[in-house]
Formats: sequence, C-alpha cells, structure tokens
Amino acid sequence: MNPERIVAGLDIGSAKTTAIIGEAVGESRRSTIKILGVGQARTTGLRRGIVSDIEETTRSIKKAMQDAERMAGAQVDSVYAGIAGEHVRAMTSKGIVAVNGDEITRADVDRANEVARAQPIPQDRELLHAIPQEYTVDKSQGIRDPVGMIGTRLETEMYLVTIGSSPAMNLRRSVERAGYRVRELVLEPLASALAVLTEDERELGVSLVELGAGTTDIAIFHEGKIRHLATINYGGNSVTSDIVHGLGVTQADAEKLKERHGCAYEPLVDPADVISLPSTVAQGDRQIPRELLSHIIHQRMDEIFNLVQEEITNAGYANRLSGGLVMTGGAAAVAGIAELAADVFGMGVRVGVPSENIGGLSDSVEAPRFATVVGLAIYGGNKAAGGNAGMIRRRQIGGAGLERVAGRFKTWFQDFF
Ligand SMILES: Nc1ncnc2c1ncn2[C@@H]1O[C@H](COP(=O)(O)OP(=O)(O)OP(=O)(O)O)[C@@H](O)[C@H]1O
Ligand SMILES: [Mg+2]
Repeated sequence: MNPERIVAGLDIGSAKTTAIIGEAVGESRRSTIKILGVGQARTTGLRRGIVSDIEETTRSIKKAMQDAERMAGAQVDSVYAGIAGEHVRAMTSKGIVAVNGDEITRADVDRANEVARAQPIPQDRELLHAIPQEYTVDKSQGIRDPVGMIGTRLETEMYLVTIGSSPAMNLRRSVERAGYRVRELVLEPLASALAVLTEDERELGVSLVELGAGTTDIAIFHEGKIRHLATINYGGNSVTSDIVHGLGVTQADAEKLKERHGCAYEPLVDPADVISLPSTVAQGDRQIPRELLSHIIHQRMDEIFNLVQEEITNAGYANRLSGGLVMTGGAAAVAGIAELAADVFGMGVRVGVPSENIGGLSDSVEAPRFATVVGLAIYGGNKAAGGNAGMIRRRQIGGAGLERVAGRFKTWFQDFF
C-alpha cells in the first residue's frame, strides 16, 4: 500500500455518518478506487443535512472513521467530506480575456477562468466549486477545450457553487474534533453523481435525485455538464414521521416497518397481505393490511417526486433528459420506488448503486445509500492519482508566481464534469 494513495471519504448525513478508506488505483482520469474499509454510525447531530449538534456529530465521525480504519488496516489524517443542504447556491459566471499570441494556451484558459471565478462572494458564504462549463473562441461557442485553437478573444462559462460559511465551519469543526483534517469539502450530489452516473447519461441529460433522510438533493446534467442544483426539505424522515402518526408506532418501529414491509407503489401490494404492528400492551395485538403502510409511503414519495418534477421543469429541462432519472440515497432502497418514479416522471428511471468501476470490498457498498461516500472517495482518489494534483505540480515547475494561481484551482471538478 502506497500511503500517498490512501484516501478517506466521509459522508456526514442526517441519519448516518459513513466513512470509506480506499486506495487510488491507476492514473488520473482513469483512476479507480479500491475499497479497503467501510465504517458507519447512526447520528442525530444534523438537521436537514446541517450540523446542529457538534458533539454528537463528532462522536459519529469518530466511530465511522475508526471502524473504517480498523477494517482497512490503515490510518488517515485527512478526509474528503461531503456537504449539502438548503444553504447551497449555484450561479453561472462569464470570464472574457484577450488571447496573448495567435494560439490559445493553457495560461489564457486559466486567466479566463480566474476572471469568471472572481465574483464577489458575500461575507457569510464561501466558494465551494468553480466548474468550467464551456468556452467561446471569437464567435464559435460550445468549445470544451480551447487550448491550441486560433483566436483573439476567449470567453469561459463557469458554474460556481457557494455554501453558507457557518454550516461549513461547523462541519469542519466536527471533523477536526474527531481528530481529522478536512482536505476538501465536496458537494454531496456531485459526489453521488461521480459514483453512479455514466458518461452517456450526463451527455444525454440526466437528473440525479438523492433521496436522503433529511433532504432530497437534485443535480441536473446535460451535454456532459452540471446545469442545475436544488434541495428539497423532505426525505426519508418525512416518510418515517408519516408512519409514526398514521400507525401510532415509535420512530424506531416506523423505520423497521418501512425497511421490512414498505412499498412506495401501492398497486404492487397484494390486498390480502397483512402485517403485524409492534404494539404496547394497551394497544393490544394489531394487524393492518400492508396496503395501508404502502399508501402512506406512496403518498409522501409522490409528493416529493412532484416537487422534484417542478424543480426540473422550472430549470428548463422538463423534456430534455434523455438519460432519464437516477435515484440514490437511503430512501431509494424502498421497494416499488422505480415504479412510482416511472409513473410520476414519465421517463426512464433507475436506482443508482455504486458498484461499477470500484474494486476491493465493493460488495459492502452495494446500496444506494453509499453513493455519496463512494463518490467522495473516488474524488479523493482521483486527486491522489494525479488528476488535479498533477496539474498543480506541473504548474509549479512552470515558474514562480504560478503556484498561487494553482492553489486556487484545487476545488475544480474539471477532471470529471
Ligand atoms: N430499505 C429501506 N426502505 C425505505 N427507506 C429506507 C431504507 N433504507 C434506508 N431508508 C431510509 O433512508 C433514509 C436515510 O438515507 P441516507 O442514508 O441516504 O440519509 P443521510 O445521508 O444520512 O441523510 P441526508 O443526506 O438527508 O443528510 C432514512 O430516512 C431511512 O429510513
Ligand atoms: Mg446523504
């Protein structure tokens, strides 16, 4: 094991904290991750993806990381951590520069990107990702890589993602208190996209829908690029509390019922199916048709999907996603979810499970709830294998003064999207 190639992904969610220790295999873009260790811990330290209890969050990070380290037989001091929530904002920004010489060089492209990136950011926010989308050289638009082209004017279009400083600070603090350093924060739905979407899907147009506990996150890709991000404040927790109220069971029992007998699409349930409810003495033995449980889940998921559909429509991608819709996150594991989604969205849908292109203990992450953490490890692995890191090294060799610029490019996703 080469210690420089060992990376950790850490997904701190509203329901659970998951850690992966992996080894980057192969070189830069074509690198993959070999999973060496996985650790999980339940948590109650977050509300809708945002840290609300640092101590509890720290505890869950420690447990998840230590379990993953033990399993991997390796220790790490830094992590690639996911961040998400309502505080995330995105915008498109343009940068225009005059080309120095006839042929466009990497330096011209960097300069244009710097201009696009230099947007004023409010005091209470920080820049998370600056993702170059496409370039325009003189009058020709839609260019992916302008280096080597002839032109006088270079324009770049950049997708900027910002986050609230205080949610970011509390997340970093929780990780630090657990004894680790945050190497980089990565937007959770983008990490999930890395783990489950194919290049063809991103090219054709696809919506990633991450059905978490506290929130549902949406990331729309089209022509290979990220085009839209959104967060809906409902998720698996909403389903659970509907079951609590509808059936008079505890939260823990509602979770169990959902996982064991749940179905998100009522027509799939046999009307003769009956399930026993966990009951108190006063409640006595209780049996209900499984259809009733399914009805509750169906209603809530239908509502969430309608909000997702609204978001896709408002973003202008209603009939443009030939790659369909890919669902990840814990709540995507419920039976009948694909049937319900196909019904609501009227396009191709599938549940995204991170198992392709990863090695090692890939069986232990074969569920939609592992999409984010696997994506974080892939992101980190790519850096370790010389993706952007390699780019930075090359620049440093290039001469003094460039190092400063290179450092600022460290959060780019350009190797992926
Ligand atoms: N088999 C299952 N059937 C139905 N729901 C499930 C199943 N497994 C997990 N869930 C639900 O998925 C949710 C947890 O999803 P996930 O692990 O993706 O959340 P998280 O990442 O911790 O939260 P968030 O991303 O919203 O901050 C919970 O509401 C849980 O009840
Ligand atoms: Mg999550």
